[in-house]
Amino acid sequence: MDHLLAGLPRANDPNVLVGFDHNDDAGVYLLAPELAIVQTVDFFTPIVDDPEIFGSIAAANALSDIYAMGGRPVSALSILACPAEDHLDDIAAILRGGALKIHEAGAAIVGGHSVSDPEIKFGYSVTGVIHPDRIKTNSGAHPGDVLILTKPIGTGVISTALKRGIARAEHLETSIASMLALNRAAAELMVETNAHACTDVTGFGLLGHAREMAAASSVTLEIDPSCIDILPGALEYAAAGCIPGGLKNNREYVAPCVEKTKDLADGLENLLYDPQTSGGLLISIAEPDASRFMAECANARRIGRVLQKESKAIRLI
Ligand code: CO
Ligand code: CO
Ligand code: CO
Repeated sequence: MDHLLAGLPRANDPNVLVGFDHNDDAGVYLLAPELAIVQTVDFFTPIVDDPEIFGSIAAANALSDIYAMGGRPVSALSILACPAEDHLDDIAAILRGGALKIHEAGAAIVGGHSVSDPEIKFGYSVTGVIHPDRIKTNSGAHPGDVLILTKPIGTGVISTALKRGIARAEHLETSIASMLALNRAAAELMVETNAHACTDVTGFGLLGHAREMAAASSVTLEIDPSCIDILPGALEYAAAGCIPGGLKNNREYVAPCVEKTKDLADGLENLLYDPQTSGGLLISIAEPDASRFMAECANARRIGRVLQKESKAIRLI
């Protein structure tokens, strides 16, 4: 993908505050001195059996890139691919679940587009607003910062266990609850507490997104895997071989950028590369502000700190 993007012609528009050069979560475009819009799009195939829950998760996931930039979502366009006649009830439920979540975020659905396709795919293009001075990119991490992660990891492994028919109900429930949770409160808090950098953990997994932040900020991220919150069941399913294809790709691509200071159990190491749907925010924030953030965000975990740039982008301790 980077190669394809590198070949695109540039417009050189000074109002593009964040473009696609640094793998940021969303684009930001300046409309007026005090007002910019944040834009993103995301859609994917069903990852849970219940269509309404799938719609809500797709919406929470699409909204997340607006939150990761520190923005406030205002409008959304739905994107739907589905078989021509079949499954009308399912489609209605997907759209309903999506709309409920978009409304929970305080945004309005203003339109959309659907195409006929043998495989259901659903998501949104979301637009948010932001003050140009409050944009949180992935390039602001400073040495000395604390790294905070606001949700547990493991949704990809648990979704794979579901597809194989071995996921237990209670494990699915916690994973679904985590994917349904908006990153809104954490995003508002990280803007208030002057976080230096933020990204959301999605398809590239925790270490994939950490690598992007490290590269964009020219630092090394030190992460302690024992401090990371893991969804119940995820370690067990990973050990049983429920490894999503995306996890293998992430590990292959990112592991060369990772220094391990000690041996890690393979199940745990795999989870560090697990692609997340609607994952948490990875935040780089100065010390006193980190304590305030931790006090006000119940699910947040301190997972490491930011170091001066070393030879590897990530160091696991
Ligand atoms: Co993102
Ligand atoms: Co995205
Ligand atoms: Co960001």
